[in-house]
Amino acid sequence: MKTSTRTELRIADEDAITAAAKILRRGGLVAFPTETVYGLGANAADDAAVAGIFAAKGRPKFNPLIVHVRDYEHASEHGVFPSLARDLAAAFWPGPLTLVVPRGENCELSLLVSAGLDTVAMRAPSHPIAQKLLLKSGLAIAAPSANPSGRLSATSASDVAEGLDGEVDLILDGGPCPVGIESTVIGFDGEAAVLLRPGALARSELEPITGALKSPQQGRVSSPGMLESHYAPNAKLRLDVKKPKRNEAFLAFGPNAAEAETGLNLSPRGDTREAAGNLFAMLRKLDASGAATIAVMPIPDEGLGEAINDRLRRAAAPR
Ligand code: TXA
Ligand code: MG
Repeated sequence: MKTSTRTELRIADEDAITAAAKILRRGGLVAFPTETVYGLGANAADDAAVAGIFAAKGRPKFNPLIVHVRDYEHASEHGVFPSLARDLAAAFWPGPLTLVVPRGENCELSLLVSAGLDTVAMRAPSHPIAQKLLLKSGLAIAAPSANPSGRLSATSASDVAEGLDGEVDLILDGGPCPVGIESTVIGFDGEAAVLLRPGALARSELEPITGALKSPQQGRVSSPGMLESHYAPNAKLRLDVKKPKRNEAFLAFGPNAAEAETGLNLSPRGDTREAAGNLFAMLRKLDASGAATIAVMPIPDEGLGEAINDRLRRAAAPR
C-alpha cells in the first residue's frame, strides 16, 4: 500500500513499536492494532496531540475519547473506581471492556479526552502490540477507532490507510484485529452499571458480576458519542431482509441464507462471535462492490448479536 509523505506504514516489529512510542512522546499520532479494532492514538496528557485526533478524524468535539492504559493500577492514577468498576477491571482487563469513571482529583489527562464531562473512559487492551506500545511509551494513550468520524471502523492496517492516509504519522501493521468489533462501554450510576455501548464483551458475560445492566435512558449517565447515524458505508443498508432484491448486495447470517448475485455470510454456522469479527470487513467489501444497497439478514440478539445489531441499526440510520 502506498502512503503519503506524512504517513508511514510499518510492520509492527520491535523497532517500529519503539519508533511509534517516540512519535507519541513528541506529540504525534500513531494508529495501532488492538484486539477489537485499530485505534488512532495520541498522548492522552497532551492537549495539542489530543486535539490532533479530533482534527484527523473530523470528530465532533463533544464526543469524548477512550484512554488506553496498561492495567488497573495505571487507570487508578487517572480515575476513581467504584467497587463494581474495580471488580469488572479485575475480571476482564486486559480485554475489550471500557469503564467510564469520574476523573481523579490529580488526573493529568487532557480535558479534551473527556469532552467537557467530569468522567474519563479507560480500558486496558489485551493486544500484545498495544500493550508493548503502552509499556515503551510509558503513556496513557487516547485512541478512538482509527476511521474518519461516522464511517466504518478499521480492522486492518490497510483499512486505516484508506481512511486516514496523510492524517497520521505512523500506522503499525499488526494484521487483522482478532475480535473485530469495538469494546463494550460501561458507565456507573452510583453502584449500578449502565450499558453505554454494547460491544465485544456480551451482556451475558457481564451480568453475573453487574446484575441486570441499566440502559442509558434509565441511568443518569449517557454517552455523547452514541449518535444515531454512525458506521456508515457508502451504500444504503436495508435490515431484516430474508431474501435480497436483484442488484442488492447481501450480507447473510447462518446456514439458511438465500442466494444473491453479490453476497457474503457473516457466519455460515450462525455464530454471533464469528459474525462480529467479520462485520466491518464484510460491510467494506460489499460497499466496494459498488452496490447501491446492502441488504442484511436478521441477526439474533444473543451473545455478540446485541453489538452487531447496534452497529447495523446505526449504519442504516438516516444521514
Ligand atoms: O474497542 C474500542 O473501544 C476502540 C479501540 C481502539 O479501543 N475504541 C473506540 O473508540 O471504539 P471510539 O472513540 O470510536 O468510541 C468510544 C465510545 C464513544 O461512544 C464515546 O462517546 C464513549 O466511548 N465515551 C468515551 N468517553 C466517555 C465518557 N467520558 N462518558 C461517556 N462515554 C464516553
Ligand atoms: Mg468509533
